[in-house]
Amino acid sequence: MVVLWIACGLAPAQVKPSGPASACAGCHSAQSATEPRTPMGRALELPGSNPTLQTHPKLTFHKGTYSYTVETRGDQSTYSVTDGKQTISLPIRWNFGEGSQTWVLERDGHAYESLVSYYPAIDGLDITTGDEALSPHTLDEAVGRLLGPGETKDCFGCHSTGSEVNDNLSLATLEPGVGCEHCHEGSSAHLMDALQGHFESAPPKLKELSSEDTSNFCGQCHRTWERVVRGGLRGEGNVRFQPYRLANSRCYDGTDPRISCLACHDPHQNVVRQESFYDSKCLACHGSSTQPPPAKAPAEAKSCRVANSNCVDCHMPRVKLPNGHMTFFDHEIRVVKSGEAYPN
Ligand code: HEC
Ligand code: HEC
Ligand code: HEC
Ligand code: HEC
Ligand code: HEC
Ligand code: HEC
Ligand code: HEC
Repeated sequence: MVVLWIACGLAPAQVKPSGPASACAGCHSAQSATEPRTPMGRALELPGSNPTLQTHPKLTFHKGTYSYTVETRGDQSTYSVTDGKQTISLPIRWNFGEGSQTWVLERDGHAYESLVSYYPAIDGLDITTGDEALSPHTLDEAVGRLLGPGETKDCFGCHSTGSEVNDNLSLATLEPGVGCEHCHEGSSAHLMDALQGHFESAPPKLKELSSEDTSNFCGQCHRTWERVVRGGLRGEGNVRFQPYRLANSRCYDGTDPRISCLACHDPHQNVVRQESFYDSKCLACHGSSTQPPPAKAPAEAKSCRVANSNCVDCHMPRVKLPNGHMTFFDHEIRVVKSGEAYPN
C-alpha cells in the first residue's frame, strides 16, 4: 500500500480529468448533467479545478509558533508551514471536500492530512476538524496528521471512484469525486454492452432498495447506524452521520419508503436548501395544524398542533460541530425541548 503511494508519485495531471459520466450522457442525460457538479461529485478535486483556492490565491493562519500559508498560482497550489526559521512547502495535489476543504499531502512517501483546513463559514483557515487537540512540537509535526495506509485508502475510497485495485490504493485509476460507477457497480461493463445495443447487464435498480438498505448503502460513506454505535462516536460530532441519526428518530421505519434517504434526496442533484420543500415529505405520514393526516398514515403518526409548514425548522434542529465552523441538520427528527442535552 505504502509502496503504491510512493511508486505512483503521480502527478494529478496524468489522472483523467473528466469522469466517465460524459459517456453515459447520451442515454442518461439528466443524471449525467447534474451529478458531477454536486458536492458528492466534487468531493475530491484536482489542482486547477478547485474554485476555492483559485478565488483565494493566498490564505494564511497562525497557531502558536507556526504560520501556515496556502498559495495558488495558476494551476499550482502550495501548502507551507514555518516556525520563522525553517519552512516546509509541499504541493497540494488532493483537495478533499467541496465546501469545507482539507488537503492530503505527500511527504517522503507518506500521506498527511493537512493540520489546517479552509472553512466557508469563516472564509479562511482554521485547525482541521478532529485535529483540534493536536499540539505539534516540531515543524514536521506541524505539517499535519500522519495517515496510515488504511486510512489513506479510506479517504480516497469515500471521496473518489475507482481508487482501489485488488484492495490497494491506486491513484492511477481514480476519478476524483463520487461518480456513477461508485454507486452503480458494473456500470462500466454496462456502458460497453449498451453501446453495442445490449442492455441485459444494466446495473441493479437502486430505487428498489428498502429504506433500511438505502440507509446502509448511503451509510458506506455517511456511516451506518452500526458503525457509529460500534465506533462509540458520541456527542455533537455524530450529527453528520445521517443514517445513524435518522434510525434513532421515532419516525424511522426501515420498511416504509416515505422515510428513505431517497424520499428527501436525489443523489444526482444538489441537496434542496429550502425548508418548505420537505413539508410534503413529512405530510406523507403526518397531519398538521390545519390538515388531517393522509389516508395511509402510520397509526402512531400524530398531527402537529403548532404549525402547518416549514416542519424541519422546528423538528430537525441545526447542530454545529464543536469547532463551530460547520452546521448540520439533525436527522433525528423529534420534538425539541428547550434546554435539552444533545440526544446521542
Ligand atoms: C462513495 C461515498 C458516498 C456514498 C455511497 C454516498 N455519499 Fe453522499 N457524500 C459523500 C461525500 C464525500 C460527501 C461530501 C461532499 C463534500 O462536501 O465535499 C457527500 C455529500 C452528500 C450530500 C450533501 C450535499 C450538499 O449539497 O451539501 C448529500 C445530500 C448526500 N451526500 C446524500 C447521499 C445519499 C442520499 C446517498 C445514498 C443514495 C449518498 N449520499 C451516498 C460520499 C458518499
Ligand atoms: C467512510 C467514508 C469517508 C471517509 C473514510 C472519509 N470521508 Fe470525508 N466525508 C465523507 C462524507 C460522507 C462527507 C460529507 C458529510 C460530512 O461532512 O460529514 C465528508 C466530508 C469531508 C470534508 C468536507 C468537510 C467536512 O468535514 O464535512 C472533508 C474536507 C473531508 N471529508 C476530508 C476527508 C479526509 C482528508 C479523509 C481521510 C483522512 C476523509 N475525508 C475520509 C466520507 C468519508
Ligand atoms: C451517490 C450515489 C449515486 C451516484 C454517484 C450516482 N447515482 Fe444514479 N442512482 C443512485 C440511486 C440511489 C438511484 C435510485 C434512486 C433514483 O432513481 O434516483 C439511482 C438511479 C439512477 C438511474 C435510474 C433513474 C430512474 O429514474 O430510473 C440512472 C439512469 C442513474 N442513476 C444514472 C447515474 C449516472 C449516469 C450517474 C453518474 C453521472 C449516477 N447515476 C451517479 C445513486 C447514485
Ligand atoms: C446506449 C445507451 C446507454 C448508455 C451509453 C448507458 N446506459 Fe445505462 N441503461 C440504458 C438502458 C436502455 C437501461 C435500461 C435497461 C433495463 O431496464 O433493462 C439502462 C439502465 C441503467 C441503470 C439502471 C437504471 C435503473 O432503472 O435503476 C443504471 C444505473 C445505468 N444504466 C447507469 C449507466 C451509467 C453509469 C452509464 C455510463 C457509465 C450508462 N448507464 C450508459 C442505456 C444506456
Ligand atoms: C424526511 C426528509 C429527510 C430524510 C428522510 C433524509 N434527509 Fe437528509 N436532509 C433533509 C433536510 C431537510 C436537510 C437540510 C436541507 C436544508 O439545508 O434546508 C438534509 C440535509 C442532508 C445532508 C447535508 C448536510 C446537512 O445537514 O445540511 C446530507 C449529507 C443528508 N441530508 C443525507 C441524508 C441521508 C444519507 C439520509 C438517509 C439516511 C437522509 N439524508 C434522509 C431531510 C431528509
Ligand atoms: C414514514 C412516515 C413518517 C415520515 C415520512 C415522517 N414521520 Fe414523523 N413520525 C412517524 C411516526 C410513525 C411517529 C410516531 C412514532 C411513535 O410514536 O412511536 C412519528 C413521530 C414524529 C414526531 C414526534 C416524535 C417525538 O419525539 O415525540 C415528530 C415531531 C415528527 N414525527 C415530525 C416529523 C417531521 C417534521 C417529518 C418530516 C421531516 C416527519 N416526521 C416525517 C412517521 C413519519
Ligand atoms: C414553529 C415550530 C414548529 C413547526 C414549524 C412545526 N412543528 Fe410540529 N411541533 C412543534 C412543537 C413545539 C410540538 C410539541 C407541542 C405539542 O406537543 O403540542 C410539535 C409537535 C409535533 C408532533 C407530535 C405531536 C404529538 O401529539 O405528539 C408531530 C408529529 C409534529 N409536530 C409534526 C410536524 C409537522 C409534520 C410539521 C410540518 C407540517 C410541523 N410539525 C411543524 C413545533 C413545530
